[in-house]
Amino acid sequence: MTRKPAQSDWHPATWQAQTVSQHPLYPDAAAVESVVASLSRLPPIVTSGEILTLKRQLAEAQRGERFLLQGGDCAENFDNCTSDAIANKLKILLQMSVVLLYGLKKPIIRVGRLAGQYAKPRSADSETRDGVTLPSYRGDLINRHPFTMADRVPDPSLMLRGYERAALTLNFVRALVDGGFADLHHPENWDLAFVHHSPVAEHYHQIVHAISESLDFFELVSGQTATSGTERVDFYASHEGLHLPYEQAQTRFLEKRRGWFNLSTHFPWIGMRTADVSGAHVEYYRGIQNPIAIKIGPAMSAEWLQELIAILNPQGEPGRLTLICRFGAKKVEQGLPAMIQAVRATGSPVLWSCDPMHGNTESTATGVKTRRFDNILAEVQSSFRVHRDMGSYLGGVHVELTGEDVTECTGGARGLTETDLARAYKSTVDPRLNYEQALELALSIAHARGQPVGSQSTR
Ligand code: PEP
Ligand code: CO
Repeated sequence: MTRKPAQSDWHPATWQAQTVSQHPLYPDAAAVESVVASLSRLPPIVTSGEILTLKRQLAEAQRGERFLLQGGDCAENFDNCTSDAIANKLKILLQMSVVLLYGLKKPIIRVGRLAGQYAKPRSADSETRDGVTLPSYRGDLINRHPFTMADRVPDPSLMLRGYERAALTLNFVRALVDGGFADLHHPENWDLAFVHHSPVAEHYHQIVHAISESLDFFELVSGQTATSGTERVDFYASHEGLHLPYEQAQTRFLEKRRGWFNLSTHFPWIGMRTADVSGAHVEYYRGIQNPIAIKIGPAMSAEWLQELIAILNPQGEPGRLTLICRFGAKKVEQGLPAMIQAVRATGSPVLWSCDPMHGNTESTATGVKTRRFDNILAEVQSSFRVHRDMGSYLGGVHVELTGEDVTECTGGARGLTETDLARAYKSTVDPRLNYEQALELALSIAHARGQPVGSQSTR
């Protein structure tokens, strides 16, 4: 049998004794237990070796040697588990990473919000329409989106369907990456058909051309093929580890590593609404060996953050903790410096990342949830500036995006307006950058931080 972990007061279910926020009320507790038991017997989705490699890379990013690109849907949908949707998401992330590699001159750690991003925190437990009140939709792992009682009642069997979809998604991503899809010698593999007509296409192609030339030059002078790190890129999975029965079921003690690992994903994060130091989520996360992230919003205080660091990374282990700040364009300059100072006072290493999406959500006059590209860009740029001014390193961005041609965020080079939102609004939760806006964001970061490409400005 498995040996006790270092912290003998912890096991994957100790969270159940704490207050758990953002969890649904299942009508049948026995059915939940039975699903958790089934999930616990199924093979893992990722391996501990991959998790530890990622943790080493995140430690390098903390030292300023790498940059983290994390992105994907706000919520994956079971129906959208299709080859096109997955390949397009991988393509846009690869395109962005090539632009960032070129602009920042650092290896990029690529992490998808995928293969498990199925559970969502909600601001209200219920939703009322025309006098009818039903449980809120909490993501496909919990219940279904249509507004009927049968769909909205939490259904534990959806955890099994989510596990299967996560495995199918990551299996396809791995097959594409292993098959050379991500080879830097062949960036034409990632050309999304519509990119050719994009106002930012030329800029992107200049970068790809410059990288191809550099690779050719390296191969010519060194007499070898630039395989290591170029032919094969690593790609990791992440999701908000919100639904603890699902996370618990995939948490295993590995004798050879002498520790517990969440094997449902490489890099789970704690959402802003579930970061209470005495809550169930923090209790669960303190016992796993994965690198983890915490979302930080305007309500976070210096003391709270320091307590989280003391609980979640008591040994100050490099690579363990990433802080994803999401203040909003208007609040970042005021809120971020205190967070940087608070962390500094602990002496513990963290990786700073910027989520320019969640602090910039607004509703149009007709009640459509959207985000303005200008605000997203402004928050990223302000974050870079604050870190630079304080002698700190912003080592990552975290974005909600899709490889599809949706119209959910306004602005960008094509100047999408509120009227355009009706055309292709597909998200069931938060508005995402479309492929073109996502690429433009990467180009702007590269342009502002590194060497300008061509004479064209991206703004
Ligand atoms: C999210 O990342 O989709 C999310 C809900 O973020 P936050 O916890 O920062 O609000
Ligand atoms: Co979101």
